Amino acid sequence: MKVHRDGSWPIEAAESLLARLRERPQMRLCLATGSTPLPMYSRLAQHPDAFAAASVLLLDEFGGLPADEPASCDATLRRVLIHHVRPADYRAIATDHLGEPAAVDAWIDAGRLDLVVLGIGVNGHLGMNEPGAPAEGRTARVDLEPTTIEGAQRYFEGRVRPTWGVTVGLGDLLAAGEVWVLAAGESKVDIVRRSTEGPATTAVPASLLQHHPDVTWWLDR
Ligand code: F6R
Repeated sequence: MKVHRDGSWPIEAAESLLARLRERPQMRLCLATGSTPLPMYSRLAQHPDAFAAASVLLLDEFGGLPADEPASCDATLRRVLIHHVRPADYRAIATDHLGEPAAVDAWIDAGRLDLVVLGIGVNGHLGMNEPGAPAEGRTARVDLEPTTIEGAQRYFEGRVRPTWGVTVGLGDLLAAGEVWVLAAGESKVDIVRRSTEGPATTAVPASLLQHHPDVTWWLDR
């Protein structure tokens, strides 16, 4: 486990990702939205050619949103990154048809995920894999915990109140070649400590990363 603890991490993390893309232009990435990675994506957006051969999978999506909701995970990632860098392949997650989880799994199975970029919920969730989610789980429709529903109001500003979503499962996140977790702010101090120093348990999904051989935590001070 590597830990970067530095206020300039969005820049460093973006530089690290660009270096990986130079080494391996056809990388397959799975990317979170939420608010924490956005400064890193803004940096990456200044390199319009870096993702030309890369494939990007959206990590998760809220259910029950109007098609034009600007704070959906898809709309957010498109606005901050995808629209600027135009990867060779971009796979969003639809929430309105039952076959979607299997179709996302098929996308993942077409080649290993090289790098997963995650945020972390105050309850330790990764993607929308809430406490108790199975460590081997694959893409699935999931119900959100009350803290996650409340927390998401930061994005939706009262327009909608999603209570479920579709997320890539812990099994595929833990099987990725490399995993990054980005966390910033006081509210994440306790859960980052529990995830990195507490027991590895499905009760704290992020703690399962202790079993992964190549995890980097990008933290602010
Ligand atoms: C977003 C996601 C969530 C967030 C987490 C932290 O795609 O999967 O797990 O990463 O809720 O959100 P922020 O960064 O807004 O604190």
